Amino acid sequence: MTQRFSFALHATDGKARTGMISTPRGEIRTPAFMPVGTAATVKAMMPESVRATGADILLGNTYHLMLRPTAERIDRLGGLHKFMNWDRPILTDSGGFQVMSLADLRKLTEEGVTFRSHVDGSRHMLTPERSMEIQKLLGSDIVMCFDECPALPAPRERIAESMRLSMRWAARSREAFGDRPGHALFGIQQGGDIEDLRGESAEKLRGIGFDGYAVGGLAVGEGQEIMFKVLDYAPGMLPEDKPRYLMGVGKPDDILGAVKRGIDMFDCVLPSRSGRTGQAFTRRGVVNIKNARHADDPRPLDESCSCPACSQYSRAYLHHVFRSQEIISSMLLTWHNLHYYQVLMQGIRDAIAAGRFDAFEAEFHAARAMGDI
Ligand code: GUN
Ligand code: ZN
Repeated sequence: MTQRFSFALHATDGKARTGMISTPRGEIRTPAFMPVGTAATVKAMMPESVRATGADILLGNTYHLMLRPTAERIDRLGGLHKFMNWDRPILTDSGGFQVMSLADLRKLTEEGVTFRSHVDGSRHMLTPERSMEIQKLLGSDIVMCFDECPALPAPRERIAESMRLSMRWAARSREAFGDRPGHALFGIQQGGDIEDLRGESAEKLRGIGFDGYAVGGLAVGEGQEIMFKVLDYAPGMLPEDKPRYLMGVGKPDDILGAVKRGIDMFDCVLPSRSGRTGQAFTRRGVVNIKNARHADDPRPLDESCSCPACSQYSRAYLHHVFRSQEIISSMLLTWHNLHYYQVLMQGIRDAIAAGRFDAFEAEFHAARAMGDI
């Protein structure tokens, strides 16, 4: 392995940053949006199509893959990249967060979490050590620490205890991960919406030392106003020379607000999931293609978009295939939404490099305010 994992900042504009993460499997332009490929697929998309939207990296999930088809099977088949036919970087989440929201009969202890599969009811245990093992079997390029967090709002004591447990798990994750040149381990800051707990968490993580740092425990019910309040201070507590990843975010305006506050990486199911439910993101806001007003409309979904859905089909066609529950509806709208997100990220990167991020954000909100045509 000649090339190691590295991060270079190219320009800053206020707290907003643009740069590049380099890995043996390719480069990741930041700020970056990672499409979610939970079960070894970005639903309704071929991997080459995901790449065509401009994605540099995908997110995969320990929790789903350990249950089906299992990490050991993926390893025997040559790893996740080969299995799903995506040879660029993959970041995997560590499972704890998904167990707490998806699994049945969860039991949390110092050691880890035991649970029943939401697929077939089988019993499993995840610990920091097992999560590191699974993410290694998958061949993940960016491995996430094993953690857990409460939904917000939550009492201070609940947030503090959970954060301290996650920090002990972070130390165990670091130890179990070991030294794997070319692969990165990211710590995850917790502490909810409480500033001194975010500070304590950041201090613990910096003491352990990671290749990147995530802000976790947000987008868990607190709303944008509280999330931005936390992001006013939380990213600044993390090392400036390492990537900062806001987990599970978000809507386009969440991403703009988070970039403005110093975040470099994002993942969210929103563009792909919305594509399957008939919601399309455009500069003018969200268009619900199910709406009867599109039935006779020969115009493209978004005349300024160069994706296949917009350059080759009418709103009337997209409306028809959605109403008819045709598979191509999910394919076209997911492609459009992922394309929209990647165009947004490229606009953000260019604006930061040109020192005009605030103007870019103002233009974004002005186009929104006009509404759909
Ligand atoms: N996805 C969204 N938020 C989180 C978090 O706090 N931790 C993990 N592991 N995954 C997340
Ligand atoms: Zn489009």
